[in-house]
Amino acid sequence: MRVLSGIQPTGRFHWGNYFGAIRQYIDLQYEAEDAFYFIANLHALTTVRDRDELAGLTMDAALDLLALGLEPDKATLFVQSDVPEVSELCWLLMTGAPLGLLERCHAYKDKKARGISADAGLFAYPVLMAADILAYDSDTIPVGEDQGQHIEVCRDLAASFNHHYGETFVMPKAKIIDTTARVPGIDGEKMSKSYNNILALFEEPKVLRKQIMRIKTDSRPMEDPKEPDDDHLFQLYSLFANDEQREEMAAKYRHGGFGYGEVKKALADLAIDYFDGPRQKRLELEADPERVRKILADGAKRASEKAGEVLRRAQKACGVKI
Ligand code: ADP
Ligand code: TRP
Repeated sequence: MRVLSGIQPTGRFHWGNYFGAIRQYIDLQYEAEDAFYFIANLHALTTVRDRDELAGLTMDAALDLLALGLEPDKATLFVQSDVPEVSELCWLLMTGAPLGLLERCHAYKDKKARGISADAGLFAYPVLMAADILAYDSDTIPVGEDQGQHIEVCRDLAASFNHHYGETFVMPKAKIIDTTARVPGIDGEKMSKSYNNILALFEEPKVLRKQIMRIKTDSRPMEDPKEPDDDHLFQLYSLFANDEQREEMAAKYRHGGFGYGEVKKALADLAIDYFDGPRQKRLELEADPERVRKILADGAKRASEKAGEVLRRAQKACGVKI
């Protein structure tokens, strides 16, 4: 299994990103023969237009991923723009990408439907994503459900290139991350930076506790029983609780006679404890930016070697390398 995935540095990572995506990437690094993970700063350029902000978010993403357990000797971690071969490959794919296919892609379509003017970067976003994937001969792409369509586009582009020029690209497959594990935000809706309802991964414990105490709850009287699985606070608690803690809390819900304040406190205690190790690790890494830059540079070198090999194969196939 050759795994690859990318994550955009468009905001601080939150619990949804971790439990819905990052944790699975980290687990896969132990199973894969090869794992490439990158920070998709070229994709982020379609939304983040402030230089310092983009540079800062890119470094933060690297610190977060390493602090959360990504191991540079197991997985290759790099910044997307450090591998220019991918942008060249993107052009080769662009020349064979039907407009109609891209028009149907949701990143562009949704923006257009909302009357927001889109640029060519957003329109061509799935082609760059296809180049990201094909450049490493990856076969397994762990992504959230929202990215499934883009993987299909990648497969279409790879198939039509292979059909026209002969077998060149490995056909990748999406590994859709369990969507039942959707993490709710502090208002009970899906946690998302666009909804302003996030709990950030590396929030200061004191601030995090305050934010948890503000999670929206209903006005059920203390003594009334409640079905735990319908409650977003319980869902958040379950992310961190072991089976015994979860069962104990579920029994309280079903029995009644408990207050939400008690659940929030228990959630804050568990969450702060859960992220304590990564928080310490992040502080160490933050104090040593050179080490992080070296990890990213080594990753980019490894990634470039592989992407160069695939690019040359594609260039030969279509006749731009003679
Ligand atoms: P956001 O919604 O905050 O903009 P992104 O769209 O950048 O987050 O998501 C990055 C990754 O994190 C994707 O793989 C996505 O499926 C996952 N993800 C984001 N929010 C959640 C959530 N609330 N629950 C589960 N997974 C999530
Ligand atoms: N578009 C993906 C997202 O927004 C990020 C991404 C870019 C990606 N290139 C990729 C994911 C290649 C998987 C494979 O989440």
